[in-house]
Amino acid sequence: MTTTGMPDLKPILVFDSGIGGLTVLREARLLMPERGFIYVADDAGFPYGGWEEEPLKARIARLFEELFDRYDPEAVIVACNTAFTLAGADLRHRFPDMRFIGTVPAIKPAAERTRSGLVSVLATPGTVKRAYTRDLIQSFASQCHVRLVGSENLARMAEAYIRGETLDDAAILAEIAPCFVDKDGARTDIVVLACTHYPFLANVFRKLAPWPVDWLDPAEAIARQARRLVPLVEGAEHPDNFDFAVFTSGSQDFSTRRLMQGMGLAVKPVDTPFFG
Ligand code: DGL
Repeated sequence: MTTTGMPDLKPILVFDSGIGGLTVLREARLLMPERGFIYVADDAGFPYGGWEEEPLKARIARLFEELFDRYDPEAVIVACNTAFTLAGADLRHRFPDMRFIGTVPAIKPAAERTRSGLVSVLATPGTVKRAYTRDLIQSFASQCHVRLVGSENLARMAEAYIRGETLDDAAILAEIAPCFVDKDGARTDIVVLACTHYPFLANVFRKLAPWPVDWLDPAEAIARQARRLVPLVEGAEHPDNFDFAVFTSGSQDFSTRRLMQGMGLAVKPVDTPFFG
């Protein structure tokens, strides 16, 4: 119960394979101050980018069943392109009463904004393979030249970077270099950050880029969509001591705990293991 006598609202669950979804959580909190948040990282399955599609889809469906039983959220923000482009439709079908806010590559806004007509999509190998991603290009960017760049290593690098490790500039440049296309006098002017981990590296990308481009981070748009689907309840207050993070591995190192604390999330021990 809150001080205004209103019952506590149900929490919003934010999901990713790792810490990338924190880039979305940050924005969602600003727009949804009255809601408590549960951040779930399937770190036992990280990185999702290299998984075969069917086993990953089955894993996500099973995990969500457990998460809904444990936490009974109001809505779920699937803050992971790799997961949502694969399993979004299946999740909505399996859990018709749950509100899902998805994350997909921001190809439509990129196609609307580009001046050169050359757009790159930087994502995990999983996301660039998806039929969903190809469909987005066909539906919204057929007039553009879209280059899909699947990075094997950037999600891991972002995890390391955000935990305070030093990264090798040359190794990062090797991952982003294919995004830069110079063709018939035109150059790529927008790179879509189609993995929620990548905005953590945006400053490094800017520093290393062969020429300036817009790095499109969809986090704010996702948060706005969440706010539209879960309207503000007048008079409601953020529940005390509510926001916490859960890791499917059940074990976190010191730097992860510190990172979560910095984001205002307590790390909750997992009493019953997931996929038990
Ligand atoms: N953060 C995830 C995404 O948005 C992917 C990271 C991973 O490979 O697990 O796609």
